[in-house]
Amino acid sequence: MKVVVIGTGHVGLVTCVALAHLGHQVAGTDSDGEKIALLQNGIPPFYEPGLEEHLSEGTASGRLSFHPEINDVVPGAEVVIISVGTPPRVDGEASLFAVERSAREIARHATRPILVAEKSTVPAGTAVRLRAIIERERPDLEFDVVSNPEFLREGRAIQDTLEPDRILVGAETPGAFEAMRRLYAPLIANGVPLIETDVATAELAKHACNAFLALKISFANALARICERAGADVVKVADTMGSDPRIGRAFLDAGLGYGGFCFPKDLSAFERLADKLGWSWPMLTEIARINDDAVGAVADKVVNALWNLEDKRVALLGLAFKPDTDDVRFAPALALAKLLLSEGAHVVGYDPKASANAKAELPDLEISLDPYEAAAGSHCVVLCTEWNEFRALDLPRLKGALAFPIVIDGRNLFDPETMRAHGFTYYPTGRQPVLPDRAAT
Ligand code: UGA
Repeated sequence: MKVVVIGTGHVGLVTCVALAHLGHQVAGTDSDGEKIALLQNGIPPFYEPGLEEHLSEGTASGRLSFHPEINDVVPGAEVVIISVGTPPRVDGEASLFAVERSAREIARHATRPILVAEKSTVPAGTAVRLRAIIERERPDLEFDVVSNPEFLREGRAIQDTLEPDRILVGAETPGAFEAMRRLYAPLIANGVPLIETDVATAELAKHACNAFLALKISFANALARICERAGADVVKVADTMGSDPRIGRAFLDAGLGYGGFCFPKDLSAFERLADKLGWSWPMLTEIARINDDAVGAVADKVVNALWNLEDKRVALLGLAFKPDTDDVRFAPALALAKLLLSEGAHVVGYDPKASANAKAELPDLEISLDPYEAAAGSHCVVLCTEWNEFRALDLPRLKGALAFPIVIDGRNLFDPETMRAHGFTYYPTGRQPVLPDRAAT
């Protein structure tokens, strides 16, 4: 099929390479000309495992191309996927400005019957608006609007798109369902479940999935606060809960909380949507409050361990909002860094991929080239992102570099007994600390 993807952010670009891989003729477009120039030269504008290889595969096959102008690619397209950003407005509502603009452009330039698929995370009701806008712009155009939310995770985006748990399509006509089945035919043939619903249900299901995942994380973080006070171990509580298949173990890892450009903004957009629909849902506010508190709890541990932060150097290991990405948007590590800087600490950070983005977002943060350089002379280390590289840290070397052998584990990456054996003072999350013998007695 001849497919156009508007917006080459994480979702859009991964969709481009995945659909080209599945055999479609794909043209990606973006209002950011610099991004398109990079892509035309085979350079991914962000880090995502496997993306560069898939990008070269797509362009070499002749099935994938990138263009700065929508009007160059929409004529002749059978399917146009809207995957532009829906950033939060000041009131927390998702801004749909770019979505609307895309719809107008599609209407203006379409030259044949066209299927418009919304992949951006949008509030329920958006498809109705899109339909009205396209109709107003081009009363003669034969078109359909479907909702096709994406469930990919950054860091595993290619795999999540080519081997998804399910494909969700919300549509209103048999023709639209049929076209979407053709788009994903190779995946459906491989046994990927296809869920077909009306449009509003599909839009809402995406919000529900992200809100529920965020709820699980905040539940684990609230439990962590209770476990710390009750002398219990949150990891074992989560393991016990997770062994019940009705609950499941995934997304019950307590720590610094969730970040990234999806959960925080989707949650506030969902909350605003519920308000607008006349049924406010304070549980959604509470999920976000507990998440903010998770960063505060780690900052409190730093203050407890070091007392005054003026003249103290704190090393943060991991700056990305999660491993395997260079994305620092709403990263808990940067929220922590801001808190520590505001208390007068000198904050040094190391991340395998996200250092440049972190420095651009927070210029007061000093960047180190490796974890040991970050630790050198620091009064404590805070593990913020569980990159695999940190599992293989040379602990005696780390201890030797530190001014005080204190490790605060914001992701429960280390084993408390190993930390004890290496002589660290160790503060995990929701588990009991390992204190020096003197303090323990
Ligand atoms: C999330 C969803 O998982 C995807 O299904 C969805 O498609 C995507 O949002 C989106 O809406 O576009 P993503 O933000 O890439 O994907 O990352 P996740 O793997 O979900 O992690 C989100 C945050 O939760 C990270 O900061 C991670 O460290 C944190 N997290 C995750 C925890 O703190 N504890 C956990 O147990 C799991």
